[in-house]
Amino acid sequence: MLNQLLASKKLPPLGTKEEMLDILFKEEYGYMPPKPEKVTWTETTVIRNFCAGKATLTKVDITSEFNGKSFTFPFYVTMPTKDGVYPFFIHINFRADVPDRYMPTEELVDNGFAVLSFGYKDVTSDNGDFTDGLAGVLYENGQRNSTDAGKLAMWAWAAHRVMDYACTIDKLDKKCSVVCGHSRQGKTALLTAATDERFCFVHSNNSGCSGSAITRGKDGETVKDICKLASFWFCENYQQYIDNEENMPFDQHYLVASIAPRFVHIGSAETDIWADPVSEMLTCVAASPAFEKHNKKGFVCENRLPQVGDVYHEGSIGYHLRKGTHYFSREDWLLLIDFINRHKNEI
Ligand code: GCU
Repeated sequence: MLNQLLASKKLPPLGTKEEMLDILFKEEYGYMPPKPEKVTWTETTVIRNFCAGKATLTKVDITSEFNGKSFTFPFYVTMPTKDGVYPFFIHINFRADVPDRYMPTEELVDNGFAVLSFGYKDVTSDNGDFTDGLAGVLYENGQRNSTDAGKLAMWAWAAHRVMDYACTIDKLDKKCSVVCGHSRQGKTALLTAATDERFCFVHSNNSGCSGSAITRGKDGETVKDICKLASFWFCENYQQYIDNEENMPFDQHYLVASIAPRFVHIGSAETDIWADPVSEMLTCVAASPAFEKHNKKGFVCENRLPQVGDVYHEGSIGYHLRKGTHYFSREDWLLLIDFINRHKNEI
């Protein structure tokens, strides 16, 4: 049944990772900003006895230098106090707050994780102003060409810089690194992992259109809707697919397939019809062959449409459909942790 539904979408066939990423850069997200020549940082302890003394909270101001320019933004590190080597989340969040309604920090620490997070607007504004923050450093006079990075690519670039820092910290387990985000940041999390192999896991929460959901024939948000709301999230070329989705030389399965053979976890929510849980699950099905090519299990699921309460954690692509609204909830985090714990020894 799922395969029939998928066949009716007439998706472009998967290519090599390089081919798929190049199409996604050129047609959807824009090319990633340059990798810095040099990255430095300063650390400031914010709360020594954080989470009842189980962790410390540190603010890190990280500076990247490239093409004679420099850009600094802050992120936050919640590090368990006890000696040990910890799996860690890099959470691209809506707010810089730690904890936050989308980030139950103490509970994540109690589950054995360190948490590195940033508020995305500390990187660049969430609007069409390309003179602000990283955008202003990248583009002269705020002008970009048709394939230059949109804002999602800039937030993904920032997550790469947090990873640059994480790679130097002995207490962080580089074999269990996870990037995650909700909604627009769930789109960003997928792009982050697709463009940086240092990430072992990615969780994309309720990210829907131009994120985890197949675009062709999806319910809820369309390319037209998202370009009307926030064309600046993408490169300018993406707009040519407004009311023209069947001519896209890609679909969102390219993004997930580009992450193979690493682990991808997709979260859907029952009432989030704008994101469209069925189309989110179809991406998992469509991307699965890219993982199977590496002798991995890919996506393992029942051959039917998703139902509330479904949790598919067996393969390299995990998926769940929980009750409730568009939200990054404790339930999503705990299911993610279950998926990570199940697979971390396979890395
Ligand atoms: C809007 C947008 C979505 C996006 C969401 C969010 O609803 O249409 O594509 O995921 O905002 O980021 O909160």
